[in-house]
Amino acid sequence: MAGNNLPVKVKIDNVVKKYSGRNGEMVALNGVSLDIHENEFVCVVGPSGCGKSTLLNIIAGLHEPTSGQVLVDGQAVSGPGPDRGVVFQQYALFPWLTVQKNVEFGLKLQGMAQDKAEQEAKKYIKMVDLEQFAQSYPKELSGGMKQRVAIARAYAINPKVLLMDEPFGALDAQTRTQLQTELLNTWEKEQKTCFFITHDVEEAIILAQRVIIMSARPGRIKEVVEISIPYPRTQETKMTKEFLDLKNHIWSQVYQEYLAIRK
Ligand SMILES: Nc1ncnc2c1ncn2[C@@H]1O[C@H](COP(=O)(O)OP(=O)(O)OP(=O)(O)O)[C@@H](O)[C@H]1O
Ligand SMILES: [Mg+2]
Repeated sequence: MAGNNLPVKVKIDNVVKKYSGRNGEMVALNGVSLDIHENEFVCVVGPSGCGKSTLLNIIAGLHEPTSGQVLVDGQAVSGPGPDRGVVFQQYALFPWLTVQKNVEFGLKLQGMAQDKAEQEAKKYIKMVDLEQFAQSYPKELSGGMKQRVAIARAYAINPKVLLMDEPFGALDAQTRTQLQTELLNTWEKEQKTCFFITHDVEEAIILAQRVIIMSARPGRIKEVVEISIPYPRTQETKMTKEFLDLKNHIWSQVYQEYLAIRK
């Protein structure tokens, strides 16, 4: 079932990805199909190595599938585009640019005038609480701070589709909770389609309308869990029976897959 009744924004159509390596061919994704609707928020969970980042990179247009395809607004993806903003698992900042200039970069690439780009960048730097570090360089920041810059940069270009690969994984619990709330606010205000990978089952349930559970290598969709808890979701939501039941179910499904890898 879909998370809403709006048109399909991202169609993942029988995507297969094989890598050839030292030990021969390795199937990373084995026929993944999923329709993600406009303004939908999906989270993807699954054991390490099951192909989550591979799938995100294919949607981003950074990797090509071996077979199958991804369509955005009905158009086959053939490369990266400004309609899809990506936050990577490992922050990817320009080391020679300040925080401010890193966030401005994508805006200027879109042709935005300097003073407008400056203002927009400031707005998002404030959102991730880094105003005091706007003139710092990435090497002067902690890992979590760098990741917050990467998040500000992705939000600033205001893409219709946000692709996020464990964006909050390196952050402390407080910052993480704050950024989850900010992300949900941004999502509700600005109507975005979010594809969000996480290892954290609680995070997946707090954020998503549907949680996609992937199986161990070769990656397939094992189960799609509808999360019908109404928004806004808060810390109290985590205490409800509905939340805890979902958490137990999803966690045990992911754990089964984790055990399958270790066999
Ligand atoms: N460029 C590549 N060349 C060869 N193999 C690759 C490449 N990228 C990924 N793989 C392999 O594909 C599989 C899936 O990797 P992927 O990074 O998509 O997993 P993941 O689910 O994101 O894992 P994690 O949770 O640890 O981030 C892994 O076995 C990995 O070794
Ligand atoms: Mg990954």
